[in-house]
Amino acid sequence: MKDTFILGIESSCDETSVSIVKNGTEEVATVISSQIDIHKDFGGVVPEIASRQHVKNVTMVLESCMEKANMTMEQIDAIAITYGPGLIGSLLIGLETAKTLAFVYNKPLIPVHHIAGHIYANSLVKEMTFPLLAVVVSGGHTELIEMTKHYRFNKLGGTLDDAIGECYDKVARVIGLEYPGGPKIDKLAKEGKDTYKLPVPLKDDSYNFSFSGLKSAVINLAHNEEQRGNKLRKADLATSFQEVAIEAIITKVRKAIIDKKIKNVIVAGGVAANQGLREAMEKLAKELDFDLCIPPMKYCTDNATMIAAAGYYAYLDGRRADMNLNSKSQDELR
Ligand code: KG4
Ligand code: ZN
Repeated sequence: MKDTFILGIESSCDETSVSIVKNGTEEVATVISSQIDIHKDFGGVVPEIASRQHVKNVTMVLESCMEKANMTMEQIDAIAITYGPGLIGSLLIGLETAKTLAFVYNKPLIPVHHIAGHIYANSLVKEMTFPLLAVVVSGGHTELIEMTKHYRFNKLGGTLDDAIGECYDKVARVIGLEYPGGPKIDKLAKEGKDTYKLPVPLKDDSYNFSFSGLKSAVINLAHNEEQRGNKLRKADLATSFQEVAIEAIITKVRKAIIDKKIKNVIVAGGVAANQGLREAMEKLAKELDFDLCIPPMKYCTDNATMIAAAGYYAYLDGRRADMNLNSKSQDELR
């Protein structure tokens, strides 16, 4: 069978990335230009700065990916693009680039939901088998998605307020850690003890999550310690926070696996890089006897490899977009 090469473009937040993936499973070449160092000074991503950086970088990133792959546009079968969700100004830069390429080289344009990309990062690691549960944990999402076949997504539940990654980043800020704080909390959590009492969020019968109460509890705790003149034990707070945050996720994941008789679980999104979550998921896999796949760190955070991989399955599913495709800051995964 002829190989299919998909060129993916991702620019939904602060990474400009282009990648070529063969048959949805094999990375040919990827280039990522990260803006983290620029946004760090502001304590978070500044949308206007992000879009300007994408404009500056996208052609360079595209050219260097083609060079790295040693391929020409004629060899590409389709262009996959993150159309949303994300920062609208940032998304538009990738989208216009993708549209231009599709138009000039007469290639199909494949719209990819950012979360589908995170889920399909797993297909670069091993074959995805169904039914499966995707645990999506990122800066903007915390969702449990059931899949019975390729490119069919059934949302079981999600966060009612803050996403888990967002909560990590806010807690990090309270502790005085630089953006993005998630990985820094994860590291610090290894050094502390679970001594601070924090509330376990949303103990109900749904598959939903809520992290704003936990976030507020941490802010209040830090504030109270300061008022009492007590030194905040940062490592202990990181450990206590991580314990509760992960327990909240694991409780709902356990329920979904049991209720839906799931045998395959994948973890997707930036927070899949979290060491504590990885360990807790591995423990759960032993307890409930399911196959677990967590992509390596490089595929967990935003990249175009996952968009090209998802794009391949979207392509097989017959999904196409025309020149009217628009970016969406919010959109349900369908
Ligand atoms: O998926 P992602 O790259 O961007 C979105 O699509 O949102 O996720 C970024 C999020 C940030 O909130 C970052 O702090 C968090 O993932 N993150 C982590 C870790 N690595 C990244 N959170 C906790 N522990 C980590 N090791
Ligand atoms: Zn992401």
